[in-house]
Amino acid sequence: MNRMIETIRSRHQEMLDALSALGGAVVADAEGTHSLQLAGFLRHKLLPHMHSEEHHLYVLVDGFDTERNLKVTAGMTLDHQFVECQIASIDECLRTARHNSVQDLGHVALHRKLEILLARLDAVLRMHLRREEDAYLAVLRRYASHEIEGEIRLRMQRVYGDGETIASPSETAVEGSIS
Ligand SMILES: [Fe+2]
Ligand SMILES: [Fe+2]
Repeated sequence: MNRMIETIRSRHQEMLDALSALGGAVVADAEGTHSLQLAGFLRHKLLPHMHSEEHHLYVLVDGFDTERNLKVTAGMTLDHQFVECQIASIDECLRTARHNSVQDLGHVALHRKLEILLARLDAVLRMHLRREEDAYLAVLRRYASHEIEGEIRLRMQRVYGDGETIASPSETAVEGSIS
């Protein structure tokens, strides 16, 4: 149980670290290549991760203590929706920034908006990931030595697995080249 929770925490931390590093790089240079990397991370790592969790894991959280945990996943799903809206707004800002030059009117305002959106995303994501870790830990504790424990671990493995590392600004591959 501890190992699985450690894997989940470490994947979550990687996401926070990637957001922080890529977001920081973009705030420092919104027109640079990090903009594509950030867009790629948000759309191809963070969004699929949330969708996969809802599909494979939230049903488990709902399943073990219906009355209490339905509320837990309802809140976590709302977090996902908020994160998705923030990603759409950041994406729009990044596209505009890519087509603007520093001389353009509104450049400073756009830059400031991007900074605010990234800070909001970071804050809500931190709170959300912590909430999820507690919920998953509760599920693992509840089903320890239970016949479906293997299935739970398999699903968690599928979502969190030993997956590839998350993009960082130092990586050369730009996953977000599709815009
Ligand atoms: Fe999530
Ligand atoms: Fe998660």
